[in-house]
Amino acid sequence: MKPSNVIFAASEAAPFSKTGGLGDVMGSLPEAISLAGAKVGVFLPYYRQTRQQKFAVKLLLKKVKVSLGQRDIYFSLYRYFHRGVDFYFINKKDYFDREYLYGGPLGDYSDNALRFAFFSQAVLSSLKVLEISPDIIHCNEWQTALIPFYLKKSPGQKDFFPETKTLFTVHNLAYQGLFPSKVLPGIGIEQSFYIPEELEFYGQVSFIKAGILYSDALNTVSEAYSRDILTGEFGFGLEGLLQSRSKDIYGIINGIDYSKWNPETDNFIKVRYNNKSLANKAECKRDILSRFKMEPDINRPLCGIISRLAQQKGIDILIKSFTGLINLGCSLVVLGKGEERYERVLRSLSQQYTRYLGVHIGFDESLAHKIEAGCDMYLMPSYFEPCGLNQMYSLKYGTIPVVHSVGGLEDTVIDYQQNPSKGTGFKFRILNSYNFLKAVSRAIEIYKDKRIWKNLMVRAMKADFSWRNSAFKYMKLYGKMRVKK
Ligand code: ADP
Ligand code: GLC
Repeated sequence: MKPSNVIFAASEAAPFSKTGGLGDVMGSLPEAISLAGAKVGVFLPYYRQTRQQKFAVKLLLKKVKVSLGQRDIYFSLYRYFHRGVDFYFINKKDYFDREYLYGGPLGDYSDNALRFAFFSQAVLSSLKVLEISPDIIHCNEWQTALIPFYLKKSPGQKDFFPETKTLFTVHNLAYQGLFPSKVLPGIGIEQSFYIPEELEFYGQVSFIKAGILYSDALNTVSEAYSRDILTGEFGFGLEGLLQSRSKDIYGIINGIDYSKWNPETDNFIKVRYNNKSLANKAECKRDILSRFKMEPDINRPLCGIISRLAQQKGIDILIKSFTGLINLGCSLVVLGKGEERYERVLRSLSQQYTRYLGVHIGFDESLAHKIEAGCDMYLMPSYFEPCGLNQMYSLKYGTIPVVHSVGGLEDTVIDYQQNPSKGTGFKFRILNSYNFLKAVSRAIEIYKDKRIWKNLMVRAMKADFSWRNSAFKYMKLYGKMRVKK
């Protein structure tokens, strides 16, 4: 039974707000679902980052009430119609008019439990006032994981949403929304839920557990990751609970938005190109080398990384392998922001190796596109990767990915050596500096043969990860959820 009305709830969506892949996905999946035939709305916090972009949002509701614990909290709701989708913004300045989305260099905001519990209740309150009782509420990550819980456990909610089913998507199990138990009264959750069978998790309250336990179905953003999370290695302590729900867990690979990530139409890059005008890609490479004031040798392979500088992304492996990479004869550009320990080492390496290493610490959308276009190879030594988007962007830009074969990286890159006629990149199985360098060195060997490398680039550029296929899978899953009692 195809859904006719789908509501997404998320803590970020491009172009309104973005810190990583979740933003990209929430900025493009809803449109794909609407193209597949459903009416779609997306609820987001109205952050300062969104406000500053001055979208022509319309005030829709004033003074909507949320009761959390003993408190009544009031907010207003804005709407903005964008690419076939109604984007609804929960406006509460105290919580969302801040410099960052989740926290700054000093750590997460101390009231995140309250901010996102409020957001979750505000989504349900808005739907009630707007008289929308959707077929599906599609929740994403711990920030919206309380929605399935509130829907089933808060007094009166189920009466308004009798047919509504909830899907909870885990984009990254490492982020769980863990808080001290003292937050419970303030977010309207009774102490009786603070037990291991419910929301308690090793002495803290776990928001993600609410999503896992109370949603009607769950999914992750690649098939491989939906299996990975059931293991001790990648389950972050939740593998037992996830195993108990394994028949309701699905894996649907993310798509990518080719209207934003396509070297043929990209406004950010020096010269546009496609698989028939690859000489233009060399211009993009020159552009990157000159921007970073690096050795302008166009024949020296150039590797790129655009990443949150977090442990997950294998930045320690990259740093350990750095001199090895230079010795293999390649150069490297890194665009990243995140943990201070990594920022510090990368900055200092770039001062030492100015000719072969370019580092930009910061978040820069335009530079991200230029790096995708200008590099020969893209490196992803991630410890785990639920989906990963940059390897798919890289394929489209003919920038050959070298990846640790886990999660979405396993599902989206075909190893050239294992399958020379279909290969699109280079993969290695066990993550360590030795294997990583070996994979890069295999890539460099192939790079030396211009004809073979060109064929590889052309094949990579033809890979299709558009949202259409994945939206179709989501529609099927929503349909299945609707008929399930
Ligand atoms: P994750 O969501 O785990 O960070 P993904 O590969 O799914 O990883 O998505 C990362 C997204 O964030 C990509 O669009 C990538 O280009 C972007 N990104 C990451 N770091 C930066 C940065 N410093 N500047 C610009 N874009 C970035
Ligand atoms: C998470 C994951 C990343 C995934 C993204 C979007 O941030 O780390 O692998 O691509 O979510 O689903």
